[in-house]
Amino acid sequence: MNPTASDTNEHHTSPGWDYSPAPERTPVELDESYGLFIDGAFRAPKSRKRFDSINPATEQTLASVAEGGAKDVDDAVQAAKAAQGPWARLKPSERAKYLYRIARRIQERARELAVLESMDGGKPIKESRDVDLPLAAQHFFYHAGWADKLAYAFPGRTPRPLGVCGQIIPWNFPLLMAAWKLAPALACGNTCVLKPAETTSLTALKLAEILREIDLPPGVVNIVTGAGETGAALAGHPDVKKIAFTGSTEVGKVLARSAAGTGKRLTLELGGKSPNIIFADAAIDQAVEGIVSSIWFNQGHVCCAGSRLFVEESIVDEVVDKLRHRMQSLRVGDPLDKNTDVGAINSAEQLRTIERYVDAGEHEGAIMHEVSADPLPTKGFWHRPCFFTGVQPSHLIAREEIFGPVLSVMTFRTPEEALTRANNTPYGLAAGIWTNTGAKIFEIARKLDAGVVWCNTYNKFDAASPFGGFKESGFGREGGRHGLKSYVKF
Ligand code: NAI
Ligand code: MG
Repeated sequence: MNPTASDTNEHHTSPGWDYSPAPERTPVELDESYGLFIDGAFRAPKSRKRFDSINPATEQTLASVAEGGAKDVDDAVQAAKAAQGPWARLKPSERAKYLYRIARRIQERARELAVLESMDGGKPIKESRDVDLPLAAQHFFYHAGWADKLAYAFPGRTPRPLGVCGQIIPWNFPLLMAAWKLAPALACGNTCVLKPAETTSLTALKLAEILREIDLPPGVVNIVTGAGETGAALAGHPDVKKIAFTGSTEVGKVLARSAAGTGKRLTLELGGKSPNIIFADAAIDQAVEGIVSSIWFNQGHVCCAGSRLFVEESIVDEVVDKLRHRMQSLRVGDPLDKNTDVGAINSAEQLRTIERYVDAGEHEGAIMHEVSADPLPTKGFWHRPCFFTGVQPSHLIAREEIFGPVLSVMTFRTPEEALTRANNTPYGLAAGIWTNTGAKIFEIARKLDAGVVWCNTYNKFDAASPFGGFKESGFGREGGRHGLKSYVKF
């Protein structure tokens, strides 16, 4: 399959001169249809059900994917259960070698995987190539390092694996989320059944190919594609000892209810309505660039997207002008073009959700600012980056997660007011502070209800650094020593 399929979408909304198209042309080999990866081999689903995975930039079908039913999920869990004892008894340094091999193979196939990630999910190649793939490899490298050092991670205690882990992931960072979930679980001696999101199964299936290439023992990782029902069957399976979920707060709550009283371990990484706070003494250009990348890159399909912006009142006009100016130069279009900043919205459904919120914002009286240059491509799912001013805290667009390239700009007069307004949300995933005053950074960061606080930067990730939320953003941490703790018992 050649990625030039999206060549029809060479529209960009940048004014002035235009760039020549710079499509990424690394070829991706795709089968016409994929089975479920169970016990080390691809097999047809007993459910006999399938669905298509499409390219959201072109609406073309990429491959047919199996929809795992309850019996398929049970087969996967039984394979994982049978493999778990031997995997846990393997010399830890041997377990590490498998993780290193996965990491190396991801690096070797990085360009192909990045292209596929952009084709299947709509995100710009710039991001899948420079963020998703390097971090996915890093998570396996990092956790390979822990596999034979767990006693040092938990001094004086004897960490033991939990058993079979059921892992359910979303569509915004498909391969990276698979790496976040699988790497720590495997390092600690658990085995896994992973369920990718229904719109982005393909890189997980390529990962299954990699697991075969590196001779991972059968059953240690099983990949069952499907939608919500498949996920529910996995989460409800009595032999699953731990559920790790990233996705909507709505489904997170369903899982919390179904796991209650079963003895299953649960970690949830849910949504957010993360604030960025810009003080008048900040380096404004740097702050604006940070805001732009925090909400508009990757179409705002980021759980920690900086979707609420609080600007100190004395500089609001300057910030809004600069935001508008910078927004004009963002390039919306073909995800496989190396110059693209904003790609396709992941699905028709997600596009409808975003449009509903934008309509609500205008209806409630906020003022919408967007670039209106070239028309968007006629095929595929697209939304221009935009922002709202005149936003009240009671407005829907200020309260609910939109998961799209939509920013709400609000103002404040004192640090206390900034803090109160930033914390006035049911979520608590991330936050950003922009100021030249170190003391203010420490003071505000300490008081923000957020799992991650970035200062004079945003969206910086590292496998060694724990990530996760408070309140309705979920519980449990992924990454670092904190993340390992979710995959062991003592
Ligand atoms: P979702 O929560 O429905 O999907 C996430 C994963 O959960 C997918 O793999 C899905 O198949 C699975 N799933 C769905 N229902 C399930 C159930 N009853 N039991 C077990 N697994 C189930 O999210 P969706 O519908 O794709 O997006 C809706 C909203 O969720 C977005 O608009 C956004 O606000 C938020 N979201 C947050 C993400 C994050 O990173 N925190 C990622 C994706 C979406
Ligand atoms: Mg797709």
